[in-house]
Amino acid sequence: MRKLTVPVRTARLNLREFVATDLAAVHAYSSDPRVTRYLFFGPRDEESCADYLAELLASQRERPRTRFELAVEEIATARLIGACDLSLIEAKVVDLGYMLGVEQWGHGYATEIALALIDAAFSELRAERVISTVDVNNAASIRVLEKVGMRWEAVYRRHRRAKNRWWDCHLFTLPRAVWEDSKATLR
Ligand SMILES: CC(C)(COP(=O)(O)OP(=O)(O)OC[C@H]1O[C@@H](n2cnc3c(N)ncnc32)[C@H](O)[C@@H]1OP(=O)(O)O)[C@@H](O)C(=O)NCCC(=O)NCCS
Repeated sequence: MRKLTVPVRTARLNLREFVATDLAAVHAYSSDPRVTRYLFFGPRDEESCADYLAELLASQRERPRTRFELAVEEIATARLIGACDLSLIEAKVVDLGYMLGVEQWGHGYATEIALALIDAAFSELRAERVISTVDVNNAASIRVLEKVGMRWEAVYRRHRRAKNRWWDCHLFTLPRAVWEDSKATLR
């Protein structure tokens, strides 16, 4: 069975399982319209946050587990500052996502998260392909995907209808072979 070892540690972050007492911190960032501007959901009120947290706590117990939505904790402060996820959307295809509270933007955290989760997706979840879809106007997230070596593959016009509008999204992908080559170059 495919397993992800949690927590995933990076230099500055601890990507750990969510727990029920995270509700207030989850509400703090996911109720902010600046954070959810390019997300299909939100901003979330307290009730919606509680439903979301309950659903993701239940997903931790699923076997086989296909959704790994993790809390992003800043090691220096022990504060929960956002969320990130790997989801097995097909047998060997893993979808990557992340979001952070506004005060934590611009410190390279999303890049650090994406690099660590990509490594975990290939080495532990044995993915053949990591993908991410991003709103065409979400410049910061597009930049993160480029920085971690993901490649633009397609644009999906009217990819999804959410929050009363159609969303045009870019598809970024990283094949296993490219990731393996990048690791070999670093050795
Ligand atoms: C996307 C997000 C996670 C980025 O987090 P972050 O920790 O600030 O990202 P990083 O610091 O690692 O990198 C951001 C990069 O985007 C660049 N950037 C930021 N805003 C930008 C903008 N408006 N236009 C162009 N580039 C931008 C930064 O300069 C940086 O690139 P650089 O290192 O070359 O200078 C954060 O903005 C966020 O949480 N957004 C809301 C949720 C979201 O949209 N998630 C993604 C869904 S696909």
